[in-house]
Amino acid sequence: MTEAVAKQPGAGLRNVAVSESRISSIDGERGILAYRGIDIHALAAASTFEETTFLLHEGRLPRKAELADFSAGLLKERVVDDQVLAVARQIPRQAHPMTTLRTLVSALGAHGKDADDDSPEAVACKSRRLVAQMGTLVAALDRIRRGRHPVAPDPALPHAANFLYMLKGERPSAGAARSFDVALVLHADHEFNASTFAARVAASTLADVHGAVTAAVATLKGPLHGGANEAVMKTLEEIGSLERVDAWVEAALAQKKKLMGFGHAVYKTEDPRATHLRPMSKSLGEEIGETKWYAMSERMEALVKARKGLNPNVDFYSASAYRALGIPTDLFTPVFAVSRIAGWTAHVREQLGNNKLIRPEADYQGPRDVAYVPLAERG
Ligand code: ACO
Repeated sequence: MTEAVAKQPGAGLRNVAVSESRISSIDGERGILAYRGIDIHALAAASTFEETTFLLHEGRLPRKAELADFSAGLLKERVVDDQVLAVARQIPRQAHPMTTLRTLVSALGAHGKDADDDSPEAVACKSRRLVAQMGTLVAALDRIRRGRHPVAPDPALPHAANFLYMLKGERPSAGAARSFDVALVLHADHEFNASTFAARVAASTLADVHGAVTAAVATLKGPLHGGANEAVMKTLEEIGSLERVDAWVEAALAQKKKLMGFGHAVYKTEDPRATHLRPMSKSLGEEIGETKWYAMSERMEALVKARKGLNPNVDFYSASAYRALGIPTDLFTPVFAVSRIAGWTAHVREQLGNNKLIRPEADYQGPRDVAYVPLAERG
């Protein structure tokens, strides 16, 4: 796309409503995000990842018994077939974990009795199973690339705490477990973002749910989308210390560098998820006695806001928060997928429930009526 086209109104499908949806809504001017009409601030304060997934999938909050059943169902589905984990052992250890995750999600689609069943019931079942298994895949691929054995899920732990347990082999503190649960709630859905749109495009062809999620994982990897959380941490590491933030930001602005973790395609004000991730990063840093990354982030936010008017997005403070949780930097984007799988699968089900093949048009600007010159005459 030429720069002129990229700047045209509607470029990148900005302000284009692709289809109706009843899953999540965003008011970019006022900084409001709601899942099924419920404000994200209320969910961050009181909900859990299990409850939020039920809300996204079923369209309403569960009753007590329904939540207990739903959580027990997710718990039962956590285990991943050894044959799928064997695929992770075939992938070069230095591969980016998002590359491995994309491959494992695809491999998972060949497993299970319902692999070839695309009925709405089977799609609902496979969607829940993918939510349950995404964390297992991410924790296992990280351990496998380090030459360690995957840690089996702990049935006594809820989803968020169990992920941290499978990753590190030890149970997290109550504070770390709750913070991570809130992070999962905050990342669970975000309307027609790029990866969700990719999933819906794939689903609209009646491709299978694992194929649609594979497309979503591939799309999330990009640094303009989910890959930004990893890029933020790399930026903080490159800067190195609080004293160097000012000079680094000034130089980056002078060079017109893209500042990762800032700006948003929809929010024109504070990203409501950053409102929670900011204090989370602070308290997690304090809990482990390492406040440097939060302090640097806070300074960087103030400078970028003052000099460029840009607000931090969801990826900015999630970087230092995940660092404080002991999550390796290149696992930040896979961790995003551990949560966003709830939204992706809700969207796949919504798409299939009222499907129309997504097939936009190109604004063709190339030459027309060009004569074919035979190869022999082209020299
Ligand atoms: N750093 C520097 N300048 C920026 C940034 C940034 N992070 N974001 C926007 N701008 C500037 C642009 O240079 C542009 O200026 P110009 O009009 O003078 O050319 C103006 O603000 C508008 O920016 P666009 O890129 O056109 O805005 P768009 O809505 O297309 O971009 C995006 C949104 C892609 C997220 C952008 O802000 C960006 O690249 N941010 C950094 C990457 C990032 O953090 N991505 C994660 C987003 S959240 C998520 O996907 C989970």
